[in-house]
Amino acid sequence: MRTVKSSTPRVAVIGTGAIGSAVVHRLLGGGHDVAVWNRTAGRTTDLAAAGAVPQESVRDALSYGTLVFLTLKDYAATRHCLAEIDADLSAQTIVGLYTGTAEEARLTAQRVHDFGARYLDAGIQASPEMIGAGTAAILYSGSRDGFERHEPTLELLGRPRLVGEAPDAAAMWDLALFGVWYDAQLGLLRALDTARAAGIDVADFAQTATAQLGHVVTAADAAVSEVRQASYPPGPADLTEHLTVIRHLIEMRTGHRLGDGGLPEVAARIESLIADGRGGEGLTATVG
Ligand SMILES: NC(=O)c1ccc[n+]([C@@H]2O[C@H](COP(=O)([O-])OP(=O)(O)OC[C@H]3O[C@@H](n4cnc5c(N)ncnc54)[C@H](OP(=O)(O)O)[C@@H]3O)[C@@H](O)[C@H]2O)c1
Repeated sequence: MRTVKSSTPRVAVIGTGAIGSAVVHRLLGGGHDVAVWNRTAGRTTDLAAAGAVPQESVRDALSYGTLVFLTLKDYAATRHCLAEIDADLSAQTIVGLYTGTAEEARLTAQRVHDFGARYLDAGIQASPEMIGAGTAAILYSGSRDGFERHEPTLELLGRPRLVGEAPDAAAMWDLALFGVWYDAQLGLLRALDTARAAGIDVADFAQTATAQLGHVVTAADAAVSEVRQASYPPGPADLTEHLTVIRHLIEMRTGHRLGDGGLPEVAARIESLIADGRGGEGLTATVG
């Protein structure tokens, strides 16, 4: 049995895929004793060579230390790993580090609470290379006590932020943030595809397109303030003018292989606001 260091809790990592392996390396580098378990046991060999201690079962890994990371593929894998457990884990804080829905976070929290453990759900806005490189943003929600007890260890992985004490808060932040990225990235791809199909040089087009993305970032503070104050000034265009352009876009995107980006729903929302006499307001009124 390895010696327990007094200042660094023993940690277990269940699931040693890309994210789990990066977590293990960083924890070892931070001076922790780290136990590992992986469904495919052969995938822990390199980690054992680096100093991690492979465990025979999920149960052994869960009991190894006071902090346990579930760095698994998804909720189904997490549910599968926790299915057989009946131990008292009241000394443990369990962190679910996987991308999932709010409902899945609530169900995992319920299961973990059944063992008496504290639960933190986590959203990883980072790639494996960013873990421990000072650039990873990791959002946590759930047990404040568990977060505060283990904050120094969580800091090894990336900037930790507790976004709420409800277990599903981090999943909602995480998915909403992925949504920002997908909407922007797919908006750019749809535009490049349309330009290319029209025989436009995409490199030339992209220069102006990226400036458009920059305008969204520049105007973000103003949009946030309008949403918070429930005040929707028209800015450069009001809803009636936006509707005209959006209808042109819907027509242009008909049959496009990436679809229309949900613009018909947006147009319907604007039409209903105009019918309510709000055509002179700005685009932020669509969420008001
Ligand atoms: N990679 C990224 O850049 C990134 C970024 C942000 C968020 N995430 C999220 O982080 C989580 C982990 O991602 P990853 O990249 O580390 O995935 P990964 O490399 O595919 O690793 C998945 C892990 O889950 C295990 N697993 C899958 N199904 C299982 C089951 N039914 N029972 C037990 N273990 C099971 C795998 O074990 P085996 O080795 O036996 O298959 C492996 O250890 C995912 O939710 C992902 O969406 C990843």
